[in-house]
Amino acid sequence: MKKGYVIAIDGPAASGKSTTARMLARKLKYIYIDTGAMYRACALCALQRKIDLEDENSLEKMLQDIKIEIKYAEQGNRIYLNGDDVTARIREADITRLSSRIAVIGIVREKMVELQRKMGAQGGVIMDGRDIGTVVFPDADFKFFMTAGVKVRARRRWEEAVAKGEELNIKDVEKELIWRDQNDTNREHSPLRKADDAMEIDTTSLSVEEQVECLLNQIRERENA
Ligand code: DC
Repeated sequence: MKKGYVIAIDGPAASGKSTTARMLARKLKYIYIDTGAMYRACALCALQRKIDLEDENSLEKMLQDIKIEIKYAEQGNRIYLNGDDVTARIREADITRLSSRIAVIGIVREKMVELQRKMGAQGGVIMDGRDIGTVVFPDADFKFFMTAGVKVRARRRWEEAVAKGEELNIKDVEKELIWRDQNDTNREHSPLRKADDAMEIDTTSLSVEEQVECLLNQIRERENA
């Protein structure tokens, strides 16, 4: 396969995009960038500094010197915020909710998009998020939009939580997903939506391996066309 593509994968929470992106990156020996983790790191930074999300001046100061790094590791990428490994912390429920709230703010998005464009500038990258195909890399070589029914997505999130030893009620997980979908879809700046030229993949009844295969087939097909 030709090297150096930019591959954009967007979709709602728990649609399968992160797992698929990670596995595809491994197969293609591409860099994987989870942009959701960057919004999560931003949310954690605001929380640590007790910044009110309405206070744009303080947010702007925070964004001027924020340092977010994604470092490759065999077991999965590690996320660093201002030098600290925050990989596990940013997956906790308070940060999940706060990340969706901070992601509606224009100056936060501008900064994240700037960082993401730098990270992907060399190509050979798979980036997943909500606005990669529409805003970050509108000229990406490949664009996918992954979806799945809310019940299946809630079950996936619930199973992940249970595997980590967390006790969650599946109904609450579903409610939280619906809240996040609405917040991410109805915001003013770069709302979650499928790019017109993205290929939609419904993962409701696909295994992770099938999802990866589906993307790979699309890439191969286009290369051989
Ligand atoms: O993909 P995730 O669940 O880790 O994302 C956390 C939040 O960040 C999500 O609610 C929406 C926001 N997000 C975004 O607005 N744009 C992106 N490119 C990625 C995530």
